[in-house]
Amino acid sequence: MNIVFIGAGYVGGPTITVMASKCPEIQFTCVDINQDRINAWNSKELPIYEPGLDDLVKKNRNKNLFFSTNVEEAVKNGDIIFVSVNTPTKTFGKGAGYAANLEYWEKTARMILDVSTSNKIIVEKSTLPVKTADAMARILNSDKAKYHFDILSNPEFLAEGTAINDLLHPDRVLIGSFENENGIKARQKLVELYQNWVPKEKILTTNIWSSELSKLTANAFLAQRISSINAISALCEETDANIEEVSKAIGMDTRIGNKFLKASVGFGGSCFKKDILNLAYLSRHYGLTEVADYWESVVNINEYQKERLVDRMLNNMFRTLSGKKICILGFAFKANTSDTRESPAISITKKLLEERAEISISDPKAIENAKKDLADLEGKISFTEDPYEASKGAHSLLILTEWDIYKDLDYQKIYDHMEKPAFLFDGRSIIDRQKCYDIGFNVFTIGTSSLKHFD
Ligand SMILES: NC(=O)c1ccc[n+]([C@@H]2O[C@H](COP(=O)([O-])OP(=O)(O)OC[C@H]3O[C@@H](n4cnc5c(N)ncnc54)[C@H](O)[C@@H]3O)[C@@H](O)[C@H]2O)c1
Repeated sequence: MNIVFIGAGYVGGPTITVMASKCPEIQFTCVDINQDRINAWNSKELPIYEPGLDDLVKKNRNKNLFFSTNVEEAVKNGDIIFVSVNTPTKTFGKGAGYAANLEYWEKTARMILDVSTSNKIIVEKSTLPVKTADAMARILNSDKAKYHFDILSNPEFLAEGTAINDLLHPDRVLIGSFENENGIKARQKLVELYQNWVPKEKILTTNIWSSELSKLTANAFLAQRISSINAISALCEETDANIEEVSKAIGMDTRIGNKFLKASVGFGGSCFKKDILNLAYLSRHYGLTEVADYWESVVNINEYQKERLVDRMLNNMFRTLSGKKICILGFAFKANTSDTRESPAISITKKLLEERAEISISDPKAIENAKKDLADLEGKISFTEDPYEASKGAHSLLILTEWDIYKDLDYQKIYDHMEKPAFLFDGRSIIDRQKCYDIGFNVFTIGTSSLKHFD
């Protein structure tokens, strides 16, 4: 059997690698139109950082795992084609800013139709608006089609930073199909593939629309928990309640549970915002205004949380940041990834530059992406991987990614070479507040009252 992934990104690359490692008798080919990306997948420096990925790629590459730009050839020979291309938010025309841009999808479907010389199973791996499979089925099984195509939905629930572990030990694998004879047969083939390493009871089969909608819903619920706790963090800062104590108290309620209850500067990543706005757009399309407004407010709180942090800096640093050096520790949207897409650090850097602050950025894995993200901005920005170098002469530290290394920095050493009074804003609540205050910092963490050496 030949399995092909179209799209060698954060989803396609790790997913095909884990599949290849678990199914040695199957040949896997990952294709992409981006030559640089494919070159990187075939080199020592993979295009993305994920713990455990390097080893798995090395073990399987050029055995039963191949990376190529020859998209059409691979598709022609494939029995199962997973489509994991990007589905960004539309930036033009109707639905701009909300709807998913499906142009890559449609192009992919038409290409599959044109090059195929055998029947195939096409799997939606990307996150898509509910009802996309309908359009896929219409294109692929049009009058022009000489072969039969079954469409399945198999959304990916991996989280960046823990992708390999999530793929090896998923909470569940979701497979949706049309509920006719062909659809159910195709679904069974995918179930058998996953059974090579996933316990049967964790493989969930549904109708195709439930599967498409479940992925958008899962992301909306996860983001909603972050916005909910962040909304309460604002109230904590006003009332001297402590968000960590509140989180613990509510998280011990088994009806609520303790995951995704950490207050922070806000969520980032390529998916949450895009998928919620897409859910809101779909709801509006079906005339469900209240539903759309409800979900959109999750994104609004996320924007508010970032603005609030910059306002807090401004208010406490004597109402001006102009000419002051702010050292940002962490640019990735979360720890253990080099991905900076929609990272809170991007919009916060922009806001700080608008205040004419001087920005020094440090990150162990994301500096190259940060440089690209900020390439068009005017203002003073420097990039230094070493946090000690980056913080020399800074007026304030600003922690935006929860990298482990930032928990154990020598804050005394950093304090000693900073301007005074020295400020520390911790957007991820990872530092020892009291210890840093005792060193001399004025300390501000999300959802807790400030520790200041002045009124
Ligand atoms: N990143 C995540 O954590 C995550 C998790 C679950 C689901 N998803 C979803 O998976 C999908 C892919 O996300 P990603 O983060 O891997 O995106 P990505 O941008 O990292 O990768 C997509 C790749 O598809 C390639 N591509 C685009 N059009 C192509 C075409 N016509 N032929 C061949 N290659 C093509 C691009 O060059 C790119 O390398 C999205 O729908 C996303 O919402 C992402």
